[in-house]
Amino acid sequence: MAVTKPVWTPSSWRSSTALHQPEWPSEERAEAARARLASVPPLVFAGEARQLRASLAEAAEGRAFLLQAGECAESFHDLSAVHIREKLKIMLQMAAVLTYGATLPVVKVGRIAGQLAKARSSPTERVGDDELPSFRGHMVHDDAATSEARIPDPDRMVQAYHHATATLNLLRAFTKGGFADLMRVHEWNQEFVASSPEGRRYEQFASEIERALRFMAACGIDLGAAPQLHQVDIWTSHEGLVLDYEESLTRRDSLTGDWYDCSAHMLWIGERTRQPDGAHVEFFSGVHNPLGLKVGPTATPDEVLELCERLNPGRVPGRLTLIARMGAERVFELLPPILRAVRESGHPVLWASDPMHANVFRTESGFKTRRFDVIMAEIEGFFAACRKEQVWPGGIHVEFTGEDVTECLGGSEAVLEEQLNVRYMTLCDPRLNARQSLDLAFRLAELMRRRDV
Ligand code: PEP
Ligand code: CO
Repeated sequence: MAVTKPVWTPSSWRSSTALHQPEWPSEERAEAARARLASVPPLVFAGEARQLRASLAEAAEGRAFLLQAGECAESFHDLSAVHIREKLKIMLQMAAVLTYGATLPVVKVGRIAGQLAKARSSPTERVGDDELPSFRGHMVHDDAATSEARIPDPDRMVQAYHHATATLNLLRAFTKGGFADLMRVHEWNQEFVASSPEGRRYEQFASEIERALRFMAACGIDLGAAPQLHQVDIWTSHEGLVLDYEESLTRRDSLTGDWYDCSAHMLWIGERTRQPDGAHVEFFSGVHNPLGLKVGPTATPDEVLELCERLNPGRVPGRLTLIARMGAERVFELLPPILRAVRESGHPVLWASDPMHANVFRTESGFKTRRFDVIMAEIEGFFAACRKEQVWPGGIHVEFTGEDVTECLGGSEAVLEEQLNVRYMTLCDPRLNARQSLDLAFRLAELMRRRDV
């Protein structure tokens, strides 16, 4: 007798095991929050998600490069114009450098406007002398170091929606209203280069960009008027973790009849929730947004192939981005067999490198941190693995902030171990600060040019 496959619906994930979900203390209040979210306007439009999918398809083919970057966890306390502007500024600066380095369009995707929930390896964490429930993101509870603050509150899903709405609104205004002007972004980069001896390493690179811009102007291109030079698309993304939130913001597109998770343009499935028979894979298999999937050191080629089939059975280009996060030491050993298996299967995936999440360690004084050089080493290992398997290394996925924090070690103006306590502000993982992010972009641009990838 033929076994019929159960039909996908926005709530069909409820019959599978859903890991890392908050335990809401009141089912009635959770239902009220879900109902509220089901009635609000979507944050993004399905047509936008399709545009992003088309750009990612270009990247999968080697004709573009993905820069996916932003906070580990956004904060309800940081909803200000300055905060959003500084992040956008660094992202634009990184993108300009990479566009030149790769001589390709850079698809810019923020971990922004919804990156508010975290899956944690351990259910509890030590804060000072206390053992508390681990922080799971402001969509779930507050970060204060008390056990009351860590009780999940479903109203926070509604607050998360409003936080995302305000963030996205300003992002759209900045990116279309002139803030993203390429000449201006280039000036900011020149300031970075000129403002420290380490930055001056990149002087030649910056002056080449300067010459390219002058060349365009001399050819009669009005750099102030061309819309491509002063408007950009920044797409939103976050880890699709709290399925109550994602389901409630899922809408059927009136043009195609397809379902889209309208909480962001792109969603990714995290390392801890990618079980092929789990609820996250079930939910995301049915929405038509572009998806990311983290691929960590325990992933096997067969498992990754199974996930490609589950998430993209129609083999739609741009639908699936595989984000490798293997660790600098092991990427060259672990990634090639997976790259090969996926390539041989014919799945049209985009490969990107997350050089952050498998390179975290704790210092003796207790700070969770990452070393800049190790982050760069994972990117280099990723490029080498891709080159070995003749796969296009199509993007990077990094955690950064626009502020001058001291959370990761090293970089052009080296942050030292004894300085970590100076401005260690993150709610979760250590982020690259503004200068470290630009340093990374210049080094990556040099790498891409040197290897002529
Ligand atoms: C993250 O991207 O913040 C994250 C937790 O990553 P991963 O699922 O790869 O550990
Ligand atoms: Co993180």
